[in-house]
Amino acid sequence: MDQKQKASGSDALIAQLDLAESIPEMRELRMWSYELLGIAADVAVVDVGCGAGRAVAEMGMRGAQVVGIDPDERMISLARERWPGEDFRMADAYGLPFVDGALRGYRADKVYHAVDDPARAIDEARRVLASGGRIVVVGQDWDTFIIDSDDAALTRRIVHARADMITEPRVVRRLPRLLAEAGFVDVSVEAHMMVSRDAAAVTILADMAAKVRSVGAISEAEADGWVAEQRERGRDGRLFFALPMFVTAATRL
Ligand SMILES: C[S@@+](CC[C@H](N)C(=O)[O-])C[C@H]1O[C@@H](n2cnc3c(N)ncnc32)[C@H](O)[C@@H]1O
Repeated sequence: MDQKQKASGSDALIAQLDLAESIPEMRELRMWSYELLGIAADVAVVDVGCGAGRAVAEMGMRGAQVVGIDPDERMISLARERWPGEDFRMADAYGLPFVDGALRGYRADKVYHAVDDPARAIDEARRVLASGGRIVVVGQDWDTFIIDSDDAALTRRIVHARADMITEPRVVRRLPRLLAEAGFVDVSVEAHMMVSRDAAAVTILADMAAKVRSVGAISEAEADGWVAEQRERGRDGRLFFALPMFVTAATRL
């Protein structure tokens, strides 16, 4: 991928993340993740794969000492631009810029699907957390997008083909076991349903269709027809897009 393609990929991701952030259920989910982490004044916490940085700012507003890390330079510059005064650093989940046991909290939201060795990332989380520290990992299962359409078979193909393009599309199913194997205790899993009937969600669906079209999983005519139907649904209030978001939490011994 050249620099230009990389930049436009980040722009599209940022637009989708901004949209996701504005959905009320997603806001509630972020607030719940802070509760599970035990965010309070002076708690040292990292937001891994912080993207444009909203969660870092929100935890900072609660008095926590937060560092946002992300390996994508564009994300880090955007986060610094949006939230000046917060601490953002370029790093990835395998090499966190903290000494052993430095943190009370570790948060990763919609990140582990992009991490090719989740067990190694969890080992790194364990290293930086102090005893009693909390880890909270939020994410979707890429095989469980629920989208209404007149063509259920094509929709299923699009959802599954998109999942096949993701590094770890079903990692949420393994996270509880991986955390337990890494020695974490009090492992809990919850699912929170995100439902959107807003026409704005068509952007996300159109992006899915374009991506699976780009790898030849569907034809151009199928992509165009499916997106046109979703746009029409957006216009006349029939759009339905739902996604269970999983929250996996645990405590470091
Ligand atoms: C879908 S975005 C989510 C951003 C943010 N957490 C949010 O909820 O809006 C995924 C982020 O994970 C970052 N990421 C990808 N691979 C990573 C890795 N190995 N370690 C840490 N972050 C990673 C990406 O650069 C991107 O900013």
